[in-house]
Amino acid sequence: MKETVLITGGSGFLGKTLALKLRDTHRVVLGARNHARNQEALARTGCEVAPLDVSNLESVRDVLHQHRPQVVIHAAASKFVDISERNPMECVDVNVLGSQNVIRACVDLGIQDLIAVSTDKAAPPHGNIYGVSKAMMERMCGLMDGRGDLRIVSVRFGNIAWSTGSVFPIWKRMVATHGQIESTGPNMRRFFFTVEEASELVLRAWKHIAEIHGKILSRHMKSAQISDILDVWTSVRGGTWKPIAPRPGDKDDEYLIGPSEPDFTSLVSLDGLPHYLIDFSKRSETPLDGTVSSADVDRLSTKEIEALLAAEPEEADR
Ligand SMILES: NC(=O)c1ccc[n+]([C@@H]2O[C@H](COP(=O)([O-])OP(=O)(O)OC[C@H]3O[C@@H](n4cnc5c(N)ncnc54)[C@H](OP(=O)(O)O)[C@@H]3O)[C@@H](O)[C@H]2O)c1
Repeated sequence: MKETVLITGGSGFLGKTLALKLRDTHRVVLGARNHARNQEALARTGCEVAPLDVSNLESVRDVLHQHRPQVVIHAAASKFVDISERNPMECVDVNVLGSQNVIRACVDLGIQDLIAVSTDKAAPPHGNIYGVSKAMMERMCGLMDGRGDLRIVSVRFGNIAWSTGSVFPIWKRMVATHGQIESTGPNMRRFFFTVEEASELVLRAWKHIAEIHGKILSRHMKSAQISDILDVWTSVRGGTWKPIAPRPGDKDDEYLIGPSEPDFTSLVSLDGLPHYLIDFSKRSETPLDGTVSSADVDRLSTKEIEALLAAEPEEADR
């Protein structure tokens, strides 16, 4: 019989991509709140969908009881920095309380594996409540690993190109409506990769969970200065751009591995590829010799930026 996987936030950009990758080999259940988006996810992926609100413990329990997954991928989140700054209670309800509910219900119901999706914004120094809320999730996951039968691993990465509400879809709308992109952060540098790469990392964490549970898995990502992406965008896709005031909570750079973390981080090889593994429970015997910041890593080349821009998904897939 096929193993059952519940993806919280399954109607989202990452959730649907994971569903498409897993549906042939697993029974996949997608859980999220908005019925219309759940129906769209069903139509797109053919997977089962379940109304689920992670900030409500009973809702999480009901879905786990009904669908009996062996594995949970926890991708549900309130993920917008500016919305979270304006609505901190909602951010904490979904990202902190919601993650607590998912972990608690997984322990109670004897779930085998939990893969929790985190973000580079969880790395210190935290610039916003979204980052703090995801750092709380990572720490809860590490500390609750091994309770009951549950193995937990977190996965940390930077921006997924073309994800819901991210800069590329926003810029596309701006150019379509008034021919000009208003950028809140041309001087910012951000880590970027594709949703394919993000889902591969999540699936790799699951595949290797026996070796890495209790820890946070990340990997090398290249970064780009937003003004460089804007320049490529306007030359390839047209329009112009201008800077506007930054949004609350945004920083110039992000860390994949922040200043207090190298001592707890090891470079490991998984599937022949280099990854970062953060284990807050003990100091690494082979610590990193410094942070991993979007200011310092290799930059995406013009060709790589062009490839990211070209990887535009269908509207229905976002
Ligand atoms: N996109 C990125 O650049 C990026 C980078 C790093 C990490 N991440 C992380 O990756 C994960 C997925 O991101 P994404 O880009 O796929 O986001 P997304 O497209 O906005 O999807 C978020 C999903 O979470 C669901 N959700 C939100 N609140 C919920 C709740 N209370 N209960 C149940 N479901 C809830 C949403 O559906 P409803 O609103 O209908 O419930 C939606 O299905 C998130 O954890 C995010 O923090 C994303």
